[in-house]
Amino acid sequence: MSVPVVREGAVAVVTIDRQEALNALDVPTLTELRDVLRGLRDDPEARVVLLTGAGEKAFVAGADIKYMSGLDADGAKAWGALGHEAATLLETMPKPTIAAVNGFALGGGCELALACDIRYAAPRARFGQPEINLGIVPGWGGTQRLARVCGLGVAKELILTGRNVDAEEALRIGLVNAIADPVLAHALEVATALAAKSPVALGIAKRLLNLSPGALDREAEEFGDLFDSEDAKEGLTAFAEKREPRFVGR
Ligand code: CAA
Repeated sequence: MSVPVVREGAVAVVTIDRQEALNALDVPTLTELRDVLRGLRDDPEARVVLLTGAGEKAFVAGADIKYMSGLDADGAKAWGALGHEAATLLETMPKPTIAAVNGFALGGGCELALACDIRYAAPRARFGQPEINLGIVPGWGGTQRLARVCGLGVAKELILTGRNVDAEEALRIGLVNAIADPVLAHALEVATALAAKSPVALGIAKRLLNLSPGALDREAEEFGDLFDSEDAKEGLTAFAEKREPRFVGR
């Protein structure tokens, strides 16, 4: 099991555990996460869902770059769709979802955190959308949700430069709600308080807050098409080969 679920009363704590790759999501792990989230969406005993990463270092270091380096446009569209489904479950399930970001939340990891209703960061957490450095773009909702959470200006700067931010900066730009240490204990405390509120009212509040979710379908399409470019192949391969990419503009 790469995505174990532990119940703390009415709170379901979901842990992504693929520590050998800093919890980067490959197909089996992301599929398992999607299935776990589907189950929790439909489970009335689970009133709040808390998402975190196993180990000291990472929440999720992104989509698995080594897997993506072999994808063509059709494969990338299916991969993007799977990530979108997991993120959309977090965003739309009729109960609160909280990310306890215990380390790196990069690329797809930042996108999953952004899809949660509330984000708390450990002091050592780092966030970013570094896809541009791989010759690709965010593909699991980042172009829409980062802009919605932090504003268009911040989202453009972070997505176009691909630079990471530490927990203090994440708090300043509104990417996280608070910094807490230990982050999981704090997130669990808030989750437990939310679990005592009316599930009906929480579900409606969340639905209203989520109106106008942005152009997610457009992102899914263009993320996939980009995988036919030479630059995407170069950027993704260079990561695995531990060298700087050479982009040619095609
Ligand atoms: N995919 C695959 N493997 C990854 C990974 C990823 N996203 N992130 C880390 N790993 C692997 C590393 O390859 C390494 O494996 P090996 O020991 O087999 O070489 C292992 O995890 C440990 O990583 P590092 O040795 O690199 O650890 P570090 O402390 O030196 O650096 C890091 C940590 C800065 C997070 C660095 O690992 C890194 O930059 N990772 C990639 C982050 C990234 O670009 N994420 C975005 C992916 S694209 C995406 O997510 C697209 C999308 O929108 C869907």
